[in-house]
Amino acid sequence: MAEVHGQDIHLLGITQVPSFGLRKGSIIDIESTAKSIDNSLNELERLTGIEVYSALIGFSGVSISIVNNHAVIAVANPTYEITLEDKERVLNSARNLSLPLDKAIIQIIERQYIVDSYDGVKDPVGMVGSRLEAEVSIVVGAIAAIQNLQRSANKINLHVNGLMYNALLGAESVLSPAETEMGVALVDIGGGTTEVSYFEEGSIIHTSVLPVGGEYITKDLAIVLRTSMEEAKRVKEKHGVASPDKARSDLMINVHNIQGKSAQQVSQQVIAEIISARVLEITELIYAELKQFGCLNRMPGGIVLTGGAAELAGLADAMEEYSSIPVRIGLPENMKGLPTDFNRPQNAVVLGGVLYSARQAAIKSGDSPRFIGVIDRITYWLKDLFR
Ligand SMILES: Nc1ncnc2c1ncn2[C@@H]1O[C@H](COP(=O)(O)OP(=O)(O)OP(=O)(O)O)[C@@H](O)[C@H]1O
Ligand SMILES: [Mg+2]
Repeated sequence: MAEVHGQDIHLLGITQVPSFGLRKGSIIDIESTAKSIDNSLNELERLTGIEVYSALIGFSGVSISIVNNHAVIAVANPTYEITLEDKERVLNSARNLSLPLDKAIIQIIERQYIVDSYDGVKDPVGMVGSRLEAEVSIVVGAIAAIQNLQRSANKINLHVNGLMYNALLGAESVLSPAETEMGVALVDIGGGTTEVSYFEEGSIIHTSVLPVGGEYITKDLAIVLRTSMEEAKRVKEKHGVASPDKARSDLMINVHNIQGKSAQQVSQQVIAEIISARVLEITELIYAELKQFGCLNRMPGGIVLTGGAAELAGLADAMEEYSSIPVRIGLPENMKGLPTDFNRPQNAVVLGGVLYSARQAAIKSGDSPRFIGVIDRITYWLKDLFR
């Protein structure tokens, strides 16, 4: 939650609660998901003293993909001045996809217009030309996933102000305009999912949501060390290292057993060996996805890592070593005056949401925004899904 005064954003609070009802980023139980959202909002209300009625909701899930589409129309006006109707006509044509019955367009991002053969046009209305082309990126996802999100919000009377794909929000807070222009990969490793996205010319071009994340590392540790998920998570976050050669064999860690009564001593090296096997697997999957995107040689911005798992010690180095691509941790740097406690890769998406909402509020009240992010050219087509 944040307060906006003119151009200044004042963060009031961030809350985090365990999520129930989700598996691999998809809702499998509306009741539990609604309860989790409610818990998080209640905590936020306690923290800030402000009641929440509506929210911008970030979404993800393995059903999400991006389709790049292109359309051409002849300008209708005899004077060849392009009108809003021409723009709408070309956009309508560009959104014309044949999708499986269970999929729908969730968002459309206008990448650029081409007027006659001048490309890079952001808004063609008022320009003169006979041929108008539109290039768009279309976020596609499972209808059920979006409806389940809407139903979970309805259950607790939370009005959905907008839905935004998580990777677009993350990009907002951690990527620089130069990076998204030249080519950069944003990789968000969460608990149950990993979003791999590629940005170029200021827009998202490819994305893929993989069903892996930090929970898998926790589960491996819990099984091998015969302990609870809670204890395994604690050990991972406090003492975990992504590769054994960065760990100490003489540093012994106290690991409690499942009942939490007795404990065993395990070296940090052994813990790192367990973690590194899964880190390698996740890294291989991410690399394969970037290869599939065809962008390995087109990313001067390298890989930017966000999500809670990005906080694992030595992860960025391990990924850099594997891929020979520069890897940096994405901290929400685009938000000035952010208290250091909040400036973590885990908060990239939520802070991106704050930045985006603040800018929308500024535009509404007539202020010109301080900077333009990757999601300013988004059009929603979602309304018909919400019945
Ligand atoms: N310091 C740390 N070291 C290693 N892992 C960490 C650390 N801090 C958090 N994590 C891991 O990050 C994961 C959660 O990340 P995040 O909060 O980004 O997920 P999420 O967005 O809630 O989940 P998802 O994106 O899968 O829906 C957990 O597996 C957690 O153990
Ligand atoms: Mg996440």
